[in-house]
Amino acid sequence: MIQTNDLRVDYDGFTAVHDLSLEIPAGQVFGLIGPNGAGKTSTIRVLATLQQPTYGDVRVGGFDVADQADQVHQILGYMPDLAPVYDDLKVWEMLDMFASAHGVPRSERRRRVNECLDMVSMNEKRGVKGKALSRGMMQRVVLAKTLLHQPKVLLLDEPASGVDPVARIEFRRILRRLADEGRSVLVSSHILTELADMCDAIGVMREGRMIVHGKIDDIVQKMQPKRIVEIDCPGHAASAAAQLHGRPGVVATSHEGDTVLVEFSGDRNELSRLLTFLVGGGGAVTRFVEKRFGVEDIMLELDGMEMT
Ligand SMILES: Nc1ncnc2c1ncn2[C@@H]1O[C@H](COP(=O)(O)OP(=O)(O)OP(=O)(O)O)[C@@H](O)[C@H]1O
Ligand SMILES: [Mg+2]
Repeated sequence: MIQTNDLRVDYDGFTAVHDLSLEIPAGQVFGLIGPNGAGKTSTIRVLATLQQPTYGDVRVGGFDVADQADQVHQILGYMPDLAPVYDDLKVWEMLDMFASAHGVPRSERRRRVNECLDMVSMNEKRGVKGKALSRGMMQRVVLAKTLLHQPKVLLLDEPASGVDPVARIEFRRILRRLADEGRSVLVSSHILTELADMCDAIGVMREGRMIVHGKIDDIVQKMQPKRIVEIDCPGHAASAAAQLHGRPGVVATSHEGDTVLVEFSGDRNELSRLLTFLVGGGGAVTRFVEKRFGVEDIMLELDGMEMT
């Protein structure tokens, strides 16, 4: 549904996005992650037809963003990073106005506005004026507005900034539902952990380049530097570490307090035999767990990477 091929975006000779190739199928929530200035908004603005690509083929729903902008608009919902609401319009008035602008027939408009407000749990604020909304509420109203014409592709630039943790969980539910209905959702953030649990796949951008992308589990697996097994052996950690040294799959061992740390490169059978061996030694073993490398670790790893 979203496809870019070697996308480049230049501003007066400065290249904000380099050779970006990206594919987001229908039904997927894709998270675009990167620090300030990474090129997220530039990429999203090209997809939204608001910015001409300097180079590259960019398609949304199969339509070329440069030549078929009208068709792209029909199927696209775009929520900009700094989306305004109208101070003096009531929530429902604003949505009604935009529904009308999108050509939703009058007879359907009320139902559509209600549906979209329900989607973001804002129906009870429908009579409140824009200026009286909190920031998180504004974000939700803007999302409702983005959904009015039932777009197949959603581009949400930092939608979760400013919303509280409860609202974020709600956000995740909304995005999941939209994707399960067959839409493609591209959502950006500078915080991976903010997005990790709502995305099927992510792409991490730095200085205009996509440095890693794919399913989160695959990235975690690929980037995992070493596998560490943590074993609690109360009272005999030092001797357990020495016994485990040199066993199949064991690369190195160390111990801290009652915990033995084993760097392990073997398969599951070898891991299982390691536990059997240890328990067979007769000493207490109260915990045996492979340390999971998580999404936070991905960011730490990436932070340590040199950019070329
Ligand atoms: N209109 C513009 N003219 C010149 N340079 C621009 C323009 N818009 C963006 N840039 C530059 O392009 C780079 C990428 O900016 P962009 O807004 O795409 O980043 P971003 O990842 O969205 O960052 P943020 O997290 O701050 O929103 C930055 O170096 C920025 O200064
Ligand atoms: Mg931005």
